[in-house]
Amino acid sequence: MEKLVLTGPTPLKGEVSISGAKNAAVAILPATLLIDGICTIENLPNISDVKLSCEILESLGAKITWNTKHSITIDTSNIITTKAPLDLTSKFRASYYIIGSMLSRKGDIEVGMPGGCKLGARPIDQHIKGFEALGANVIVENGKIKAKAKKLIGTHIYMDIVSVGATINVMLASVLAEGTTTIDNAAKEPHIVDVANFLNTMGADIRGAGTDVIKINGVKKLNGNSTYSVVPDQIEAGTFMLAAVASKGDLYIKNCITKHLESITAKIIEVGGNVEDYGDSIHVWCDKRPNKANIKTLPYPGFPTDLQPQMGVVLSLANGTSIINESIWDSRFQYTEELNKMGAKITAQGKTAFFEGVKKLSGAPVYSSDLRAGAALIIAGVCAEGTTDIYNLEHIDRGYENIEEKFRNIGANIKRVNE
Ligand code: EPZ
Repeated sequence: MEKLVLTGPTPLKGEVSISGAKNAAVAILPATLLIDGICTIENLPNISDVKLSCEILESLGAKITWNTKHSITIDTSNIITTKAPLDLTSKFRASYYIIGSMLSRKGDIEVGMPGGCKLGARPIDQHIKGFEALGANVIVENGKIKAKAKKLIGTHIYMDIVSVGATINVMLASVLAEGTTTIDNAAKEPHIVDVANFLNTMGADIRGAGTDVIKINGVKKLNGNSTYSVVPDQIEAGTFMLAAVASKGDLYIKNCITKHLESITAKIIEVGGNVEDYGDSIHVWCDKRPNKANIKTLPYPGFPTDLQPQMGVVLSLANGTSIINESIWDSRFQYTEELNKMGAKITAQGKTAFFEGVKKLSGAPVYSSDLRAGAALIIAGVCAEGTTDIYNLEHIDRGYENIEEKFRNIGANIKRVNE
């Protein structure tokens, strides 16, 4: 079994470069199924979720050539089956994007129920509502989702909940539909804009991505024949920003879009950290114990749930008691039990947690319950006195490229050990 071993405390100092966004990449890859031809995707993060997405595409008939470890050329001219392998699709969340893409391209698809981080109930009713409104017939049975449509016809869809996945999936299903589809109450995350930009580059006609009303004018075909570069990862950038604050460090975070980081910047300033914004890079430093602050996670442009655990480490070390209210997921406080093993004083009740700040954390064996919990435990291990062993690395490897190397390059004493 692999584990990460960290010895601290270490103030993180230096430069770190941000990879392409996981949550954009895992949507753009299935979106290539809409293209009847070839395209090249660059700035792909080298993570296990991307490799899994590629394996699923290959099983459907796509031909993938790796140009570098961050760039692929993919030929989706020849789709050979409408049954995606159940064992692969049920391994991660974003496999549900195969449904929107294949409904649009082939009018038929069967996939396993999506897996992914265990964050509480993760219904897909809004995805299904969107597909059905476009004219598809969707059946969920025996751990499979089967969707079929003779023809998809554009319509008006109001999302009852702001959902990243449902917004992207309905967008994918509408690209080749007849007429115009309007998605109302759409999610506005940077990766939604990135997927729309990718599709438009390949020949789609999508307007309004990044606002809460998206209009998709159906086109007959996507020709591809273009190159697209995935947007930098907002959450990875935010992870390093918060690592700088928690460790009382000083980091230059390169290759990010600082506009996507405004809610994080605002909270860092509120807790007493410093931020210099250069547009495509950001300098974050903190030379004192952070102040307490209250956080409520919200869809973009609010404070992202995917940075809540990393912010939790900052607040566990803050001066005073802070409150975090998690409004997206039911079970995103599992990491607090692990931080408490390291000396934090956190009481989590349902979707609210109280962080009574402590002066220091101490190393302990801890278990990562999900991807962002894993990132939070690495930050905690950097800040803690003594040795922290982090287990369940498969979660971390799903979403962070070269995480230990990136942390090591900015001063962390971190190594991966095979026990
Ligand atoms: C995406 O998940 C991300 N995953 C998650 O990132 C992220 O936490 C989440 O968006 C919120 O930002 C990917 O992009 C692959 P949602 P998604 O649909 O699309 C409810 C990470 O760590 N809902 O926006 O599955 C749902 O239960 C991961 O990188 C319904 O009720 O999230 C939740 O409360 C974890 N019905 C809320 O909406 C639906 O049909 C938002 O979920 C869909 C969602």
